[in-house]
Amino acid sequence: MDIVVAGGHGKIAMLLHPLLVARGYRVRGLIRKPEQADDLRQAGAEPVLCDLETKTDISEFVGQADAVVFAAGAGPGSGAERKWTVDRDGAVKLILSAEKNNIRRYVLVSAMNLEMPRGSEVFQVYLKAKAESEAALRESGLDWTIVRPGSLTDEPGTGHVAIAPELPKGDIPRADVAAVLAEVLDTPKTTGLQFDLTSGKQPVREAVEELSFQID
Ligand SMILES: NC(=O)c1ccc[n+]([C@@H]2O[C@H](COP(=O)([O-])OP(=O)(O)OC[C@H]3O[C@@H](n4cnc5c(N)ncnc54)[C@H](OP(=O)(O)O)[C@@H]3O)[C@@H](O)[C@H]2O)c1
Repeated sequence: MDIVVAGGHGKIAMLLHPLLVARGYRVRGLIRKPEQADDLRQAGAEPVLCDLETKTDISEFVGQADAVVFAAGAGPGSGAERKWTVDRDGAVKLILSAEKNNIRRYVLVSAMNLEMPRGSEVFQVYLKAKAESEAALRESGLDWTIVRPGSLTDEPGTGHVAIAPELPKGDIPRADVAAVLAEVLDTPKTTGLQFDLTSGKQPVREAVEELSFQID
């Protein structure tokens, strides 16, 4: 499988690349800073320079692939404007390029509890931008999966998670999110599903496998 990861130098993405390479996949990561290219190569991914905000059409950078993953984000230090231009519009540009390039599969890294307004004004814009990116993906004709993690930590992965349509507030190591993304990409029956994701007691593969039964 050929996979393109937008936000290729993000913390989750950098943990995801080696997992995908270990499964025998070719991985390309979209980045906007040339100085990050060597980090991607070391993680086994091919860097592709593509700024999601300055490019209107990113399809030539996405190219041909079997699946795309949106793991980009403006980040906690950004203002409201970049929540729209990265978190929403970046995800939408990836939808449009997948459609244009006939890539069916799209996995979106979203967030839990988008519907619950909270936090600063900028954070509320982030929640809306993520919600709009989700809506655009659900309305697309693509084979989508929406992964909605709780608060991300940099703790080591445990290999154990909780997955359900709705979960109580919780944390999850980025390494475990990356493990779930890799498993979702390998599990076609997660197509058309969205789910919350926190730390939990179930092994990743088993949790992803059981997902469609929980949601039915
Ligand atoms: N923080 C949380 O608790 C939390 C909870 C749930 C979900 N999430 C979501 O999880 C996702 C990934 O999290 P993470 O911690 O891995 O994020 P991260 O480390 O902040 O990575 C985001 C990546 O997006 C890239 N990016 C930003 N603007 C870009 C642009 N214009 N063009 C191309 N790339 C651009 C950044 O690159 P640069 O280095 O160039 O800036 C960065 O590598 C995000 O979508 C976030 O919203 C976060």
